[in-house]
Amino acid sequence: MNILVTGGAGYIGSHTCIALMEAGHSVIIADNLCNSKRENIEKIMDVAGKEVTFYEINVTDVEAVDAIFKNYKIDGVVHFAGLKAVGESIEKPLKYYYNNIVSTMVLTKACKKYGVNRFVFSSSATVYGNNKVPFVETMDLLPATNPYGETKVMSEQILTDIANVNPTLSVSILRYFNPAGAHESGLIGEAPNGIPNNLMPYVTQVAKGKLEKLRVFGNDYPTIDGTGIRDYIHVVDLAEGHVAALENLTEGVHIYNLGTGKGTSVLELVRAFEEANGIEVPYEIVDRRPGDIASCYADASKAKRELGWTAKRDIIAMCWDSWRFEKNYKE
Ligand code: NAD
Ligand code: WQD
Repeated sequence: MNILVTGGAGYIGSHTCIALMEAGHSVIIADNLCNSKRENIEKIMDVAGKEVTFYEINVTDVEAVDAIFKNYKIDGVVHFAGLKAVGESIEKPLKYYYNNIVSTMVLTKACKKYGVNRFVFSSSATVYGNNKVPFVETMDLLPATNPYGETKVMSEQILTDIANVNPTLSVSILRYFNPAGAHESGLIGEAPNGIPNNLMPYVTQVAKGKLEKLRVFGNDYPTIDGTGIRDYIHVVDLAEGHVAALENLTEGVHIYNLGTGKGTSVLELVRAFEEANGIEVPYEIVDRRPGDIASCYADASKAKRELGWTAKRDIIAMCWDSWRFEKNYKE
């Protein structure tokens, strides 16, 4: 299939492009590089050993998107392009609503115009809010605590409403848990701008000596050691989940958790990193981060049952691969 991957130069998108090409598909990337680098396109081609077509465009731009659909016979869209910094979304809500919602509308409109019936969307476990763990796809969603989360809830609703009146459209909504790790080549991985918000890139930058110590946000949660529990999933497993979703897509809207089903606390992750890589990660306990919840992990059984997909790589592999990427990475 010819797959249009929006946000394909980014962290999860770049790994998914490789997995798609390994599965025999052709990839067209649309990315405005607002949170990624052009060199990622070369790296994707190096790792996959295949060419990709790259459009440097903003996917909220109707004409630029139309031109791609006009030029290529697109069989499916995987829509990663989005802004994802929770804190920034509180300060700049309009930027987030515009980018993340308008992009979804522009792309679905182009799909309708050109008869493209496969659409895979990047959602997030954040839509569950502070529900009881494990999170199951059938749960009622709780209000998001930030505009970023709202853009995911709204995009899910928009896609569901569109699919309900377009019976030939097949939509897969993938709710990712906490992506971590990098490609085993060490060439592509997560390279956040500035100081990382997420735990794993923060840990790797402390290990590299770029940051002095990790600040652990709270040790008084009702968890095994008081620190927050998350379901870390290797980005290559996540990428393979997209291939499974695309290849098993049937008419209607389907929602899948992409997680491992296993929770890991902050201190467990720090210990796993130290053990895997033989490097000490200094840390201090500080106050809770506003908006954080105690525990978040998936019931991952639906994706296994319906897509035949499960995560294969464990937290140690995530620590190895994240560190290999960080060691190699030059700003
Ligand atoms: P990322 O920032 O590395 O990748 C997103 C890519 O989209 C970037 O290359 C960026 O340049 C591009 N982009 C953003 N807006 C665009 C636009 N209007 N037009 C064209 N390109 C645009 O992020 P990621 O971690 O790879 O996340 C991919 C998707 O998965 C996002 O939608 C994100 O919200 C979602 N998600 C991420 C996580 C996570 O923790 N990384 C968790 C759940 C969901
Ligand atoms: C993980 C754990 C922190 C950093 C966020 C978004 C979510 C999704 C994934 C996109 C928590 C603790 C972290 C640090 C710490 N993104 N921590 N010190 O908050 O689960 O999810 O990214 O959809 O929407 O909210 O991920 O990696 O920031 O935090 O102690 O410096 O690590 O408190 O328990 P989170 P995270």
